[in-house]
Amino acid sequence: MADARLISEHWGAGDVFSKIYAAMLEAGIDPSRVTVDQLAPVDHFHARGFPATRDLADALPIGEDERILDIGCGVGGPARYLAQRFGCRVDGIDITAPFVEAANKLTDLVGLEDRVTIQIADGQSLPFVDAQFDGGYSQHVTMNVADRDRFFAEAFRVLKPGAFFALTEHGLGPTGDPHHPVPWSQDGAGAFLVPPSETVQSLSKAGFSRIGVTDTGQDYLDAYRSAIAAAGRGELPAFGVHILLGETADEKVRNAARNIEEHRTHPVQIICRKPAA
Ligand SMILES: C[S@@+](CC[C@H](N)C(=O)[O-])C[C@H]1O[C@@H](n2cnc3c(N)ncnc32)[C@H](O)[C@@H]1O
Repeated sequence: MADARLISEHWGAGDVFSKIYAAMLEAGIDPSRVTVDQLAPVDHFHARGFPATRDLADALPIGEDERILDIGCGVGGPARYLAQRFGCRVDGIDITAPFVEAANKLTDLVGLEDRVTIQIADGQSLPFVDAQFDGGYSQHVTMNVADRDRFFAEAFRVLKPGAFFALTEHGLGPTGDPHHPVPWSQDGAGAFLVPPSETVQSLSKAGFSRIGVTDTGQDYLDAYRSAIAAAGRGELPAFGVHILLGETADEKVRNAARNIEEHRTHPVQIICRKPAA
């Protein structure tokens, strides 16, 4: 699939694990004793980073030993955090091979390999049989998904009746035409933003109900502004998410903020349910 290759090359150029490992050493973190908390500044690879995952987790009904699916799990920070916090098991899938490799190596480093399993797959075609998971989520992935109906139908298929599904993303704002580069696209290629109302329709078409939408724009904007200010003062930490954003990291973050300010994007968190049988 042409889109899949383009998107994975955008996200995962080079040896991602070595980049993270080198940054750990530079930050004075001992990789042989690293903890889930210490990895958090890098491995929650989405707007607002770890605080956004924590806030989402606060809203999710996850029980011990439940099986949860992370679609587009990146380098696996959210999966490891949920596994540690709730004692659940998390299966992650991601389209970007260097992220999957890094995710599994990081999971081994923190000793969570019996609870977190990550493999290469496309969220538009999940490698799981029906009704396997007690809940699923997808943080900042759908900006790159060409066929949302199929993506949500696949999530619906593998969830058990009554399971939750959560997603966070940058929807398309009323002004449209986002500035590039942004974290999910260098020049607009591989970007498929739609207004939140269309995402809700697509979720509903897949069968989801009780769809709750929260506007996260101001929270993201505040986080982007503080990252921009820290970069301006030359105070970005050695171990931070910018190491995964490549050479145009500063520009991507500035554009992500400006797109929200100009209502070109509309960030949201959405939580819904597969109806109980
Ligand atoms: C911004 S990162 C978010 C990673 C992770 N969800 C997190 O929050 O830390 C976006 C991720 O979506 C993945 N992705 C994009 N399209 C995908 C698809 N169709 N199926 C699976 N993963 C996808 C990318 O490879 C990348 O790892």
